[in-house]
Amino acid sequence: MEIEKLIEEINRLKEERNAIIMAHNYQLPEIQDIADFLGDSLELARKAVNVDADVIVFAGVDFMAETAKILNPEKTVLLPTRRATCAMANMLTIKHIVEAKKKYPDAPVVLYVNSSAEAKAYADVTVTSANAAKIVGKLDSDVVIFGPDKNLAHHVAKVTGKKVIPVPPNGHCYVHRKFTLEDVERARKLYPNAKLMVHPECEPEVQEQADIIVSTGGMIKRACEHDEWVVFTEREMTYRLSKLYPNKKFYPARNDATCIGMKAITLQHIYESLRDMKYQIEVPAEIAERARKAIERMLEMS
Ligand code: 13P
Ligand code: SF4
Repeated sequence: MEIEKLIEEINRLKEERNAIIMAHNYQLPEIQDIADFLGDSLELARKAVNVDADVIVFAGVDFMAETAKILNPEKTVLLPTRRATCAMANMLTIKHIVEAKKKYPDAPVVLYVNSSAEAKAYADVTVTSANAAKIVGKLDSDVVIFGPDKNLAHHVAKVTGKKVIPVPPNGHCYVHRKFTLEDVERARKLYPNAKLMVHPECEPEVQEQADIIVSTGGMIKRACEHDEWVVFTEREMTYRLSKLYPNKKFYPARNDATCIGMKAITLQHIYESLRDMKYQIEVPAEIAERARKAIERMLEMS
């Protein structure tokens, strides 16, 4: 189907189903362009609480769609393709959490939203990259178990001064792990007037070179502070930023920083998702109830 026709059909089906499309900042440009709501993982979770629609088509990865479903059990949440998954979230198992808890029984379990619903059911509170340091800082404990991203754990430990136990020991995002000090050097040479905005999933040595360390939502909020930026996160973020700030310059630090899970979704998938009402996200009630408490605690604390 031609792209204009596809968009026309998506809009028609959206009306027929009373659906909205929520999308993460890493989605393909053509999906960002048709989304009803775009945001980082915290903004998407917040928005999911107050959605005025029967159906949410979630253009993001599976844990984000699960979070929307947990917060909205009575609504239908659709993930356009089962291939939209987060490799980092899949690194954390229940066994990792249970073993860490045996070693540190008094430490609260703080889980990045990039984790499965099952894992969240074991969390005291969830966090996103936008609020992790703030929430850990507020917890009444100097030691926390934190998973699955060890680089975000490093950032949190640095900001809060607390002891952060990473679970698993080497949880990471393969997209953000690509950024190295050579990328920093190249960026400084090629764009001497630019500042560096760095996602906290990047390696500690890259974080140390950052002008600001922020979530994707934080990048949008703080872009107003300077006219030229090199962006250390998934490639599509520069599309989002350039659209919002057409008079500023945003350079991707690497062109190959691509999240396969995010990029698995196409306009065709969104059309088929609305047409066939697939793939419906379901979270078993007992897991959803426990995970909801951890997510709601995050929303209250941030
Ligand atoms: P944000 O919370 O910054 O949107 O990040 C989510 C994510 O998966 C980053 O890789
Ligand atoms: Fe997961 Fe990394 Fe993709 Fe974010 S960029 S969704 S952390 S794999």
